[in-house]
This record gives sequence, C-alpha cells and structure tokens, in this order.
Amino acid sequence: MNTTYDLIVIGSGPGGYVCAIRAAQLGLKTAIVEKRSTYGGTCLNVGCIPSKALLHASELYEEAGHGFDKMGIKVSPELDLKRMLAFKDEGVKGNVDGVAFLIKKNKIDPFHGTGRIVKPGRVEVTAPGGEKTLVDGRAIVIATGSDVAQLPGIEIDETDIVSSTGALSLSSVPDRLLVVGAGVIGLELGSVWRRLGADVTVVEYLDRILPGMDGEVAKQLERIYSKQGLSFRLGTKVVGVERNDDGLEVTLEPANGGAQDRLEADVVLVAIGRVPFTEGLGLDDAGVLRDKRGRITVNGQFETNVTGIYAIGDAIAGPMLAHKAEDEGIAVAEILAGQAGHVNHDVIPSVIYTTPEVASVGKTEEELKADDVPYTSGKFPFLANGRAKVNKTTDGFVKILAHAETDRILGVHIIGANASELIAEAAVIMEFHGSAEDLARTCHAHPTLSEAVKEAALAVFRTRDFVS
Ligand code: FAD
Ligand code: NAI
Repeated sequence: MNTTYDLIVIGSGPGGYVCAIRAAQLGLKTAIVEKRSTYGGTCLNVGCIPSKALLHASELYEEAGHGFDKMGIKVSPELDLKRMLAFKDEGVKGNVDGVAFLIKKNKIDPFHGTGRIVKPGRVEVTAPGGEKTLVDGRAIVIATGSDVAQLPGIEIDETDIVSSTGALSLSSVPDRLLVVGAGVIGLELGSVWRRLGADVTVVEYLDRILPGMDGEVAKQLERIYSKQGLSFRLGTKVVGVERNDDGLEVTLEPANGGAQDRLEADVVLVAIGRVPFTEGLGLDDAGVLRDKRGRITVNGQFETNVTGIYAIGDAIAGPMLAHKAEDEGIAVAEILAGQAGHVNHDVIPSVIYTTPEVASVGKTEEELKADDVPYTSGKFPFLANGRAKVNKTTDGFVKILAHAETDRILGVHIIGANASELIAEAAVIMEFHGSAEDLARTCHAHPTLSEAVKEAALAVFRTRDFVS
C-alpha cells in the first residue's frame, strides 16, 4: 500500500531541507524530492557556501601578499588555484553530506528526481533515468528556489561567458574579467578574482552600485572597492558579447542611449539578478498563481491560492536569501503541525562578504524618507574604534536609524570587519522593538568592534540631545 505523507517538500535548498527536518521533528511523516544528485540547493552547492570558501581563501591570499608584512610576518604567497578550488569543493561536500545525514537521521523519505504537481496532494517524481513514481501527501511545499536571470542575446556557456556557477570554478585566473551587474554576486565574485590577479571591470546599468542598499553605504563602498582596484562603469549597459581571436569583445552603451564603445575581456560574468525557478512543476495545471515577476503568490501562512499547496524561499516574494528561506521553511512546518509559525520579514539581515564586510537590517534612509517617517541617524566610524585601529581594519562605520519620537531602531547599516557577525545584535534588538537608548545603555566588551555599534546608538542620543 502506498504511504500518504503529511508533507511532501519539493526542493532541498535551505528552504526545503530545513522545512522537511522541522516537520519530521514535529512528528509529520515527510518526503523530500530533489532533482540534483546532492542536497542543499543553490546555497550549499553553487551559492553561499562555495562563494564564501573562495572569498575566505582569496582574502587570506591577498592579506599574505600585502597585509601580513605590516605585522612583521614575511611570506611570499604563491597561488595554487587548483588546490584553492579543491578547498572550496571540500567545504561544499562537508555541507551537503551534513544535510544528507540530517535527512536520514530525521527519517525523511528522499525521492531523487524532478517533481511535478499532478494535482493537489499528488506529486509525480521523474528519476534521472526517466522512471516515474507517484507520491501522495496531505500538504505540498514548493521550495524550488531560483535561477540566473539571463541577458537577452548573451548566451551563458559557463566557460568564458559565465553565471555565478561558472565563476566559482574558473580553471585559470582570467587576465580581464568583465562583470555585468554591480549587485551582491558581481561584487563578491568580482572581489575574489581581483584578489587572485584579474583586472576586473564591473558594468552597472544604474548610476550607483547595490541598488536597494542605503545610499550613503553604497557610496562609501564604491570608493573602497575602487581603491582596491575594481573599475566601475556605471549608467552603462552591455548590449553584446562577441568572440574574437583575442578573447571576448563586449559592446557597451550608456543606459540612456548614446555612442557605443567596446571592451576586451577574457571572461564575462553575468550577474544581473535571479528569477524564481518554477519550470516543469505543473503550476498552471494545478492552478497555482504567480505574480508578474514569476513569483508564486502566497498568503501570510505561505499557502498558495490552492489549498494544501505552500511555497517558500526564492520561489516567492522577498529577499533571495538563504536564512529567509530557512525561516519560512520552519514557519510552514510549524503551521502544518498546528503551531503558530511566523517570519518577521521586517527584520531580515543581509550581508555582502567582501572586505570590508557590509551588513544591513531594516530600513534604509531613503526608505524612511519615502515613507515620511521622522528619524534620527547616529554614526560611528571604525577609525575611532580601538580594536579596529590596532588591527588596521578601520574602513567603514556603523549607522543606526531610529524613530525620532519613539527612539525605536528602524535600521542598522554596517561597513567593517566582521559586520556579518555584528549585525546579529542589531537584528535581536529590532526583533524586540528595542530603542537606541536600550542599545546605548547595554555594556559592550572592550576592546571589540561591537563597541562601534554601542557608540552609533549613543550618537543617535547625542544627535537628539537626550544626554547633556
Ligand atoms: P534553492 O537553494 O535554490 O534550492 C532549490 C532546490 O530545488 C534546488 O536544489 C533544485 O535542484 C531543486 N528543484 C527545483 N525544481 C525542482 C523540481 N521540480 N523537483 C525537484 N527538485 C527541484 N544567500 C545568503 O543568504 N547568503 C549568501 O552568502 C548567499 N550567497 C549566494 C551566492 C551565490 C553565488 C548565489 C547564486 C546565491 C547566494 N545566496 C546567498 C542566495 C541563496 O543561495 C538562496 O537565497 C537560497 O539558496 C534559496 O533557497 P531555496 O531553498 O529557496 O532554493
Ligand atoms: P542583484 O539583484 O544583487 O544585482 C544585480 C545588479 O545588476 C543590479 O545592480 C542591477 O541594477 C544590475 N543590472 C540588471 N540588469 C543589468 C544590465 N542589463 N546591465 C547591467 N547591470 C544590470 O543580483 P545578483 O548579484 O545577481 O544576485 C542575485 C541574488 O543572489 C541577490 O538577490 C542576492 O540576494 C543573492 N545573493 C546573496 C548573497 C549574499 O547574501 N551575500 C551573495 C550572492 C547572491
């Protein structure tokens, strides 16, 4: 007799595998469907994990070449790219094997193949060999993630015209790398290859880098990245890439139209965003609605317009981030188990893992202005922080935006070493609706970078003349 599952999860990225594990822990009989040969989705296989491995290794390589001598450590680093890529692959393997272990330990039934919703409550899984299996379940969670957005007329072959996936595995350091898109991927992977020796030009359609990020933060970052050697062509679009004897010839045009010009490159990285991946899922037949951008529409409980079909992660609206997908996965598992699953979408931190790191949570100054929210801003530079000074990591600042009347913290933006860790404190205080005064009156250890967070909170105070 066929098993009827309480839950079938399609996709094993951070959304799907976390959802399946939480559901199993809550006593739901759970199946997971994954078409890839390994679990972990984009994040573990070709996203967060391998990119962070290369960012870490390339940063140390650069430091060894230009930073260690300041501390009296003399080394002459030599790049073994093959070994560095193997280091990255080992990190990926460790992580995907860890997920496989957890799936087994939590007694989740795995189905290897492509899932298609035949009707509510039934998923057909087509194995790589073509064999089909029907899986029945009371609820289905779609966690199929996202895919690379394509540039019309420019075909990604993952050798010299690459997406992030190809850029994580280039077999040699390109002399000239042209990155299309000054977003998170362009800046993280552009930084990796620059540190390893490539001449990197980033072409961005808009007249600023990192759209959506606080304007003051983005401006400072552009200066820092330029100083490090990234070249920016802002307000410019790529209209074509052609192969010639010398590599690739890229045609550029001002975003608002005008005279074209050309740049030579050995590798072009297309990083202009990602789009929800829902191909072949049978959504139209099942009657599941999507918005104009192809994102599955869900209600506050992550349920689609079709009863019993849920969706989470990159496949729905919101920031395309692994921790957002994970939290949604946990929430939906808890909802299905009769609990009150919930995600606070106003407090989702985001991080760019360059040097220095960049981290944000909550509103930007531009958003507060647009919404007519009265706010006070407090800023503290790492140049005045003892730990940053002694470590010579003084680039950047902490900026805190608080409501002008209630003092509630509405946004925190950090450029600086370890910003990825510092932002957690901001997220916690915002989750508890804390004020700048709460943060400023909390004792922070000395000497730590976190003292800059406290100081920025104190600066909100001083700006408002609370203390005299
Ligand atoms: P995914 O991780 O995309 O997983 C979806 C899974 O579903 C895939 O395994 C896919 O094979 C499977 N699937 C799809 N369709 C089917 C089907 N029909 N049947 C069976 N299986 C199917 N985010 C961060 O928070 N921090 C980072 O540092 C970070 N770095 C990144 C770096 C890069 C280069 C990239 C590309 C992304 C990065 N992200 C990062 C974003 C992060 O990877 C995604 O937000 C996250 O993976 C989304 O999780 P998900 O579970 O929604 O989908
Ligand atoms: P992105 O949305 O961050 O940036 C894309 C950039 O390309 C934007 O600046 C946009 O204006 C520009 N652009 C769009 N079309 C263009 C064109 N035709 N020509 C030139 N520029 C153009 O997308 P990205 O960097 O591809 O990343 C995709 C997603 O992956 C992001 O949404 C992010 O959430 C996630 N990610 C997260 C990471 C992290 O958390 N550290 C790391 C890497 C990716």
